[in-house]
Amino acid sequence: MHFIPPPVLARDYAVRLSVTERCQLRCTYCMPEKGCSCARDTTREMSHREIVRLLGALHARFGVRRIRLTGGEPLLRRDLPDLVSAIRGLGLDDIALTTNGQLLARDAQALASAGLSRINVSIDSMDAEVFRRVTRGGVLARTLAGIDAALAAGLAPVKLNMVVLRGSNEQDVAAVLRHAVSLGCELRFLELMPIGAGGTRFGEEFFSSEDVRERLRAEGFGLEALPWDMRETSRDWRVTTPEGAQGVCGFISPTSQPFCDGCRRLRITSDGWLYGCLARDVKHDLSPVLEAANQLEAGDRWSEALGQALLSKQGEKYRDPIPTMSMIGG
Ligand code: GTP
Ligand code: 5AD
Ligand code: SF4
Repeated sequence: MHFIPPPVLARDYAVRLSVTERCQLRCTYCMPEKGCSCARDTTREMSHREIVRLLGALHARFGVRRIRLTGGEPLLRRDLPDLVSAIRGLGLDDIALTTNGQLLARDAQALASAGLSRINVSIDSMDAEVFRRVTRGGVLARTLAGIDAALAAGLAPVKLNMVVLRGSNEQDVAAVLRHAVSLGCELRFLELMPIGAGGTRFGEEFFSSEDVRERLRAEGFGLEALPWDMRETSRDWRVTTPEGAQGVCGFISPTSQPFCDGCRRLRITSDGWLYGCLARDVKHDLSPVLEAANQLEAGDRWSEALGQALLSKQGEKYRDPIPTMSMIGG
């Protein structure tokens, strides 16, 4: 008889699929200067067909609707708009993307036309020199143009991510927030996570969400907490700038206010491994799904992998985290 998933598997998964581990940047909190030194082959990337097959089985069997494409930097993959369009064709209606924005001005319109729903763009400073230093070579003007292009292409919402680092970009939180509010975008302040390169100077660089709020209040911003949906990474606050402009900003606080309890995130690396948790380096090979004879069998193989991945969720403890954020994109 056909396998019936237990109730724990019948959740509304949020799947994060990395399409490449390659990245043209080396953000200090994500990758070492010379790239990831972990003993893995970072060059194998699933083909367009393999990705569509994996997601097709996941959608057909578990009704997954939400997918976020990550990297590395997903826009380095030239078939990205085609991939988005094929994923849309499977019936997934919420396709999001996380990007560093450097190539977004080039691709925003094509991605929107292909059916991308929403986009999150990293922007760690409004100061070109600080931006270049934190990203090790990124050009602020390119990311700003990318954000403008995403808005002009009608991608909605466009959210901005800023990883706040003590002694590095902490002084820029107000400037980035002002810019986000002026564009009508939500800016989320991310606490540094002790994963990969982010763990090497964690003690010195960690800057908590409450530290950010204190700094904003000291600079004349008004902040008022909004209700939190525990399935979300971000806790949102209504913000009023010193000039009186209104907006919403978010705080992603995995250390000071963990959000593991409501977590329904699953991660797939670009070489086809499933991870249940960032905080636990336990992975599950998805090649049995890819090698299944038909969609039904692929669905059964997904069930097995999902059960194992859900058991590996750690909740708050970073005892044995994944080797590098660049393999998973958050
Ligand atoms: P939306 O809220 O749907 O826009 O997506 P998101 O916030 O999950 O997406 P994004 O890729 O922008 O992720 C922002 C950051 O949230 C990531 O870089 C991570 O720092 C953090 N994050 C996402 N998922 C998890 C998780 O399961 N655990 C932890 N600790 N952090 C996570
Ligand atoms: N801690 C917190 N966020 C991180 N990101 C990458 N590395 C880290 C880390 N160590 C963020 C990026 C991007 C998202 C995909 O992951 O800034 O917004
Ligand atoms: Fe590249 Fe994103 Fe990592 Fe920066 S955070 S090095 S942009 S993958």
